[in-house]
Amino acid sequence: MKAYLALISAAVIGLAACSQEAAKPAEAPAASAASEAVPAETTAPADAAPASEAAPADAAAAPAAGNCATTVEANDAMQFNTKEIQVSKACKEFTVTLKHTGTQPKESMGHNIVIGKAEDMDGIFKDGAGAAATDYVKADDARVVAHTKLVGGGEEASLTLDPAKLAGGEYKFACTFPGHGALMNGKVTLVD
Ligand code: CO
Repeated sequence: MKAYLALISAAVIGLAACSQEAAKPAEAPAASAASEAVPAETTAPADAAPASEAAPADAAAAPAAGNCATTVEANDAMQFNTKEIQVSKACKEFTVTLKHTGTQPKESMGHNIVIGKAEDMDGIFKDGAGAAATDYVKADDARVVAHTKLVGGGEEASLTLDPAKLAGGEYKFACTFPGHGALMNGKVTLVD
């Protein structure tokens, strides 16, 4: 019995060593293939909606979440970490999570993400400037395609939109906190 167990554990160790060795070289090409293959994976949009809510189900949800969700960071220096949000057409819903990586409170360094048509952004800003109570987005502003709430340092918030709403126009995202829009903006593009 003892010898039998020893054999098994030897076999397990051997397997573990093997699979570790095998996994390393195999992983790198697979990962880069996956990141380059975003358009090719558009055949799996069905998982999109549950994936954005199912953060704990890591293994199963990860690929879909990668395609139909993205994270944008904002900091205490009034900057987003990207100038473009790419939204896959294949997704039924697309989720953008805003993560404030700074420490300042939202009263002094608040950030949100507001998405609208490029030509509507001026109006969205103008009407949002006086709407502190609703996170600097005018209530029920029909020009706003989607927006997050306002967050301070260490907080995050997300928005979900239907990519079909971005068809046929130029769309932008911005932070509408007063004075932030000039630095904190970028484009929202539809991709395959
Ligand atoms: Co801001």
